[in-house]
Amino acid sequence: MQAAAYHNHRTSSTFLARGGRNSSKNRSGNFTVRMGLKEDGPSLAVVGVTGAVGQEFLHVLSDRDFPYRSIRMLASKRSAGNHLTFEDKEYIIEELNEDSFGGIDIALFSAGGSISKKFGPVAVSQGCIVIDNSSAFRMEEGVPLIIPEVNPQAMDHIKLGSGKGALIANPNCSTIICLMAATPLHRHAKVIRMVVSTYQAASGAGAAAMEELELQTREVLEGKEPTCKIFKQQYAFNLFSHNAPVLSNGYNEEEMKLVKETRKIWNDMNVKVTATCIRVPVMRAHAESVNLQFEKPLDEDSAREILRSAAGVVVIDERDSNHFPTPLEVSNKDDVAVGRIRQDVSQDGYYGLDIFVCGDQIRKGAALNAIQIAELAL
Ligand SMILES: NC(=O)c1ccc[n+]([C@@H]2O[C@H](COP(=O)([O-])OP(=O)(O)OC[C@H]3O[C@@H](n4cnc5c(N)ncnc54)[C@H](OP(=O)(O)O)[C@@H]3O)[C@@H](O)[C@H]2O)c1
Repeated sequence: MQAAAYHNHRTSSTFLARGGRNSSKNRSGNFTVRMGLKEDGPSLAVVGVTGAVGQEFLHVLSDRDFPYRSIRMLASKRSAGNHLTFEDKEYIIEELNEDSFGGIDIALFSAGGSISKKFGPVAVSQGCIVIDNSSAFRMEEGVPLIIPEVNPQAMDHIKLGSGKGALIANPNCSTIICLMAATPLHRHAKVIRMVVSTYQAASGAGAAAMEELELQTREVLEGKEPTCKIFKQQYAFNLFSHNAPVLSNGYNEEEMKLVKETRKIWNDMNVKVTATCIRVPVMRAHAESVNLQFEKPLDEDSAREILRSAAGVVVIDERDSNHFPTPLEVSNKDDVAVGRIRQDVSQDGYYGLDIFVCGDQIRKGAALNAIQIAELAL
C-alpha cells in the first residue's frame, strides 16, 4: 500500500513559547540539532511567523535541512517581544517594519495580502528574494507563479547571489493541490477542460479558524450556541460555500483563483476551468474532485501509471477495500494523494477522467511549496 510509504511530518507542537512547553523538541519528541544553520547559507526572514503557515515554514525548513545563517522572525505588534525556540536557538519575535529586510537574502511572506503589498516591494528594493503566499502579486505580469514540480522554468532567471531582488508568488493552495495531480496527465494528453469541486479544511483560513472549529464542535456537543467569529455561520457539523467574497459573475474569489492561476501556471490561456469551492468541517488538508477532459485519449490504467511516477504524488486507489485519499491520511505529509481514478462515463472514448485529490494545504499548499521555490533559487 503506497500510503504507508509516506513520511509523516506530524506537527503536534508549535515553536512558540506557550505555557512552559518545551518547544525545542522536534515533532518526534527528540531534541533537534541545528542542522540548517550554516555560515555560508542565506539569511532568512519569516513574515507572519506566528500564523498557521508561518509555523509550518519553520517545520519545513527544519525537515529539509534548508541552509541558513540567520533567521529573522517577524509578525505584528501583538506578537513582538514573544519568544520562540527553533532548532535549539531562542529568538525574539520582531514587529514587521520597513527596516526589517536589511541584510536579508530570502523573505518568506505569509501575513496576508495587504502586508505583502506594503512590505513585499520594500524587501525586493533591498535586494531580497520574496516568496509570497498571499494572492497580492500572483496574477501580476512578470511575477512567476511557481509549483516546483510543474513550472520551475518560469523562475530560471531568479538566483540568489545575483544581487537583484525578486518577487515570486506561491499559488493558491487549492490550485497547487489540483495541479500537482492534473499536470502529469496534462503533459500526456493535454487538458482542454477541467471541472473542480473542493472540500476545504479550516486550516486554509488560518490558525484562528482551526481554533473556532474546535471550539464550536465542543459547544455544539455541549448543547451551547456556537461561537461564530471567523465565519458568519455555524461551521461544526455543517458545510458552506467558501467564505471568499462572491464576484459579479457569481463565482467566489477562491474559485476564480483556480481558473486564472491554472492558465498562468500552464501558460495556456485557452484551458477551460470551472470550480465550486466549499468549506467543510475538516481541521487540516483539502480534498478536491477533479473532472478532466483531454485533447488526446488517455485510459485510466495509463493515467494511474503516470500518476504513480509523478514527483510529489502518491496514488491511493484501492477499489476492493474502498480505500481512497482522505484529509486525515495526508495531514502533515508532503505528497498529494490521488485516487478514484476512473474513466468519465459521460464522455465518449478515452477523453475524460475523474480523479479525487487530497493534499495538506498548509504544507504542500503553502509552506513546503514556498521552501521548494527557495531551494530552486539557491
Ligand atoms: N492557511 C493556509 O493554508 C494558507 C495557504 C496558502 C496561503 N495562505 C496565505 O498565507 C497568509 C497567512 O495565512 P495563515 O493561514 O498563516 O494566517 P494566520 O494563521 O491568521 O496568521 C497570520 C500571520 O500574519 C501576521 N500578521 C497579521 N497582521 C500583521 C501585521 N500587521 N504585521 C505583521 N504580521 C502580521 C500574524 O501575526 P500575529 O500573530 O502577530 O497577529 C500571523 O503571524 C495569508 O495571506 C493566506 O491567504 C494560507
